[in-house]
Amino acid sequence: MKADVLLGLQWGDEGKGKIVDFFTPHYDIIARFQGGPNAGHTLEFDGTRHVLHTIPSGVFHADKVNIIGNGVVIDPVVFKKEIDDLESRNAAGLGNILISKRAHLILPTHKLLDAASEKSKGEEKIGSTLRGIGPAYMDKTGRNGLRVGDISLPDFDKRFSDLVQKHSRLLEMYRYHAADMDVLVSEWKAGIECLKKFSHIDAEHYINASLAEGKTLLAEGAQGSLLDIDFGSYPFVTSSNTTCAGACTGLGIPPSRIGRVFGIMKAYCTRVGGGPFPTELAGDMGNELREAGKEYGATTGRPRRCGWLDIPALKYSIMLNGVTELIMTKADVLSSFDKVMACISYRDNSGAIMPVSFSNNNILPVYREFAAWKLTNEKMNFAGKLPPELSTYIRFIEEQVNVPVTIVSVGPERSQVIKLSKSAWV
Ligand code: IMP
Repeated sequence: MKADVLLGLQWGDEGKGKIVDFFTPHYDIIARFQGGPNAGHTLEFDGTRHVLHTIPSGVFHADKVNIIGNGVVIDPVVFKKEIDDLESRNAAGLGNILISKRAHLILPTHKLLDAASEKSKGEEKIGSTLRGIGPAYMDKTGRNGLRVGDISLPDFDKRFSDLVQKHSRLLEMYRYHAADMDVLVSEWKAGIECLKKFSHIDAEHYINASLAEGKTLLAEGAQGSLLDIDFGSYPFVTSSNTTCAGACTGLGIPPSRIGRVFGIMKAYCTRVGGGPFPTELAGDMGNELREAGKEYGATTGRPRRCGWLDIPALKYSIMLNGVTELIMTKADVLSSFDKVMACISYRDNSGAIMPVSFSNNNILPVYREFAAWKLTNEKMNFAGKLPPELSTYIRFIEEQVNVPVTIVSVGPERSQVIKLSKSAWV
């Protein structure tokens, strides 16, 4: 079998968790391949909201295997909190979590270094989630990191202390002092004990053998393509490859084994943290969109910046990922507007889509106006019929990007999904 990939096409927070949860019944294995506790994947069912940070979104299904791949960075403290919370909610798939021995660990000092680095940047800060993601990936590429497989080594404690000391020297350079290192270290060690209760596996072998046996796998992306370390709006990006190639390196899957690529896009755009956002809505309209869409970070609670759909950016993400199907989320949110706009091109000097270096000042979006749709719970038709104005909006996007929209999500609940006719297989 081929592995299917599901990922965000914008700046994250596209609603990936909900869609993975919706697809999970069709797969044997759900696997996270990059990022870490900077992610906050929200799932809602039976009137309850669940937010996952490190654990794949298939964890509420008893018969599914959930893999945390080698490309993920794990904070044992967040992991333990997540497991404790899932235990209290009786998540059915808790017994089926497998962790790659090659996944890297986030140390308490990685989080301090993240904070110190951001503080030192002043106005130029990235707006990091301060979860230690950047410093942990720096140690990975700098070949200093600790991995899940190291936990069982006899000298693991020494390796940990040596790395903490190295970090402490860097923190001194930043003149950044931790409040209480002892507490942070003891929390971390409790997290390591929790991690020890799970199977640490050679995930690349497990995954490839499973695919060869005919098992189905859905790779669950985190963040969004425009936050990719290589192709995002650098330096305002995260520290991993959020694009489809990340599923290959983050799980050990050969490119020839990638099947469908599901691109998740909001009907509009949001972004948390700093960096360019060409279609950002300032003032009342941005605030209205934020309130209508409840656009506050699932991990940090920060208000998200909001704006109209950016089709040139969407085209760029679709190209990078080889997207085969689009899934539009939060189409209901735009119901409160009288008209809807979408950016169809940029008026910049080069005509380039996503130039290497750009800011809101050197890119002027050209908009097209659409009639708004009314999509209230009472009027919603889950059998696949959309209000004509929304159909027009979707048809326009499809024509522009040459990829079909197969599913439209119209609310946070698992059931609030409209399958369009082109989506024969779900
Ligand atoms: P970091 O990954 O925490 O270092 O954050 C780098 C940038 O990516 C910041 O602008 C964050 O707000 C953004 N970011 C990181 N993770 C997410 C996410 O899951 N959703 C949306 N934005 C994110």
